[in-house]
Parts: sequence; structure tokens; C-alpha cells
Amino acid sequence: MNKEAILEEINQTKNLSSLNEVCDKYLGRQGELTELLRSLKNLSQEEKASQGKEINILKKELEEIVNQKKEELSQNGEEKKDWIDVTAPGPKPAEGHLHPITIVQRQIEDIFQSMGFSVVYGPEVETEHYNFDALNVPKDHPARDMWDTFWLKGLKNLLRTHTSPMQARYMEKNNPPLRIIVPGKVFRHEATDASHEAQFNQVEGLMVGKDISVANFQAIIEEFLKRFFGPEIEMRLRPSYFPFTEPSFEIDMRRKGRSWLEIMGAGMVHPNVFEAVKYNPKEWQGFAFGMGIDRLAMLKYNIGDIRLFNSGDLRFIKQF
Ligand code: FA5
Repeated sequence: MNKEAILEEINQTKNLSSLNEVCDKYLGRQGELTELLRSLKNLSQEEKASQGKEINILKKELEEIVNQKKEELSQNGEEKKDWIDVTAPGPKPAEGHLHPITIVQRQIEDIFQSMGFSVVYGPEVETEHYNFDALNVPKDHPARDMWDTFWLKGLKNLLRTHTSPMQARYMEKNNPPLRIIVPGKVFRHEATDASHEAQFNQVEGLMVGKDISVANFQAIIEEFLKRFFGPEIEMRLRPSYFPFTEPSFEIDMRRKGRSWLEIMGAGMVHPNVFEAVKYNPKEWQGFAFGMGIDRLAMLKYNIGDIRLFNSGDLRFIKQF
């Protein structure tokens, strides 16, 4: 028996099954080495001892080498890679995405921009003057109760209760004709329910020109709603009251078979508002509206509760 030849044979094996074959051939029950040990029984006691010892040492040595080779082969298989594929893509990091309100706000901005409206933004901390007085809501006027206000310390400033103060701010600094929308956060000190939040989002709209009428308002809003929701949405206009518009409306919307949801207040800009910003009301007319962005998002995505938007619940947010 040639040890070198056996080692060479083991070395040559390329997979586990051929290694097992070699192993069986020498070390198995009928293996050559096992047979050799068995044949020692015919020898003298002395020979038996010396040869037996030699064979057992060889056997042990071979077993060790076989085991080592086994390990090598099984690691070399599919599992073990002792090299790095530098071109392989790394693990994908978790990706963030836009909040549904931001998505909806951007869609609104795109649609109105395509109709010639500029997008402007205003301050969330407002003065009493712009939030109320400039909008024809004098102190002690009962209409102030329409908005439950968060007053700031000193009662001079407040968190804006609507985006309408930007009507006055913008008209003071810009000459007519004009077309703007003003998206942003608004705040009201009111009890929350499925369609009311204490912090929500509005988009104000204002169009002023020489002969703007309710018909222009209706055309613009219908075009917007058609593009935003598609044809399956229904809309109704109700007469309403706002101190800064005359006449005033409220607009409700619904998907077929569902209940109506109020989405916006609107009307023709009140002459007193024009006068406060030094526009001549005999010369200029305009319409204004204030839409609830959260309400639009609820209708668009069929969301039953407005409070989900700011709940921080990832199961909700990840759906967008
Ligand atoms: C106003 O805020 C007026 N500034 C709208 C306006 C602008 C009228 C310009 C005329 C001219 P109102 O309080 O109705 O109106 O709110 C407007 C819209 O904001 C509502 O139709 C509704 O869609 C949304 N809204 C009002 N309160 C809440 C609330 N608590 N939570 C969520 N959305 C609200």
C-alpha cells in the first residue's frame, strides 16, 4: 500500500461524492486498510503489534486528511466565496418618500400653475390685522367666532386660522390683474373628529381682473377638479357667508354613492377688502376661495379619517 498514492488520490477529488468513494475504497468496512487490519490476525503476536500500530497510525492520518478535504470541498461549494464581487449592488437603504399631503399640494400647484396662477407662501404666525381686520372682520364682529383662534402671548399675534390673510398681503404689494394660489398650514382651536383637525392645510386662490365674474370662478374650479379627481367626482355649490366675499359659496364634493364632504369656501371679493388694500372696487373684481387640502386628499385616496395624516403611523404613510 502506497501512502503517497492514496494522498494523491484524495487530493485529486473535486467533489464530495468522489471523496467519499476514495474514502470507502481505503477506510470503509470493506476498504483496503480495513482488510489489511483484519488480515493481521494470522500473524504472530509481535508482528501483529508492530504492523497493527503502523496501519492504525496511517489510518488515523488518512482520516484526518479526508475530513480536512471534506470541509474544503463543502465550503468551496455554493456557500463559500473567498472573493468579493465589487460590482455587486449593495443592500438597498430604506428610502423615504413624500407625505400624501405634500403629494396632493404639489399636484394642486401644478394644475393651477398651468392655468396661469403663481404660487406664493405666507407666514403661519399672523397679525390680527391680516387674519381678520383687513378681511372685513372688525373686532367684536360676531363673524370672528367662525374661527376658533390660537392667540399668541400678548394677544397681538396669532396662528393663522386660514390662508386668506395672504389675499391682503399680496394685493398690498402687487397691482392687479393677478392670479395666485397660497398653499400652507392653518390652525384652529377646535375639537377634532374624522373630518376636523386642529392643524390642517388650505390652499387659497385669488384672481382679480377688470371683468371677473362667478362664471370665471366656476370654470376654473370645474377645470381644476376634473383634472385633479377625474370625471367621476360630483360637486355642488351652496350659498354661504364669509365677511370677505359677497356673494359667498361653499362647495361640497362626493364620489358616487358616498356622502358629501365640504371642501371649500369661496366668493367674489368684498369691496371693503379691495378698499383696505387700495384697489378701486369700481374698477376691479375678483373671486377668492379657500380649499381644504386634507379634505381633497381624503376624497382622492378614500381616507375615512383626517387624523391619520398626522398620526405618524407608518402602516398608513407607507401606502403612498
Ligand atoms: C375659510 O377658511 C375661508 N378662509 C375660505 C374662503 C377663502 C372663503 C376665500 C371665501 C374666500 P372655512 O372655515 O369654511 O373657510 O374653511 C375652508 C375649508 O377648509 C373647508 O371647506 C374645509 O375643506 C377646510 N377645513 C375647515 N376646517 C377644517 C378642519 N378643522 N380640518 C380640516 N379641514 C378644515
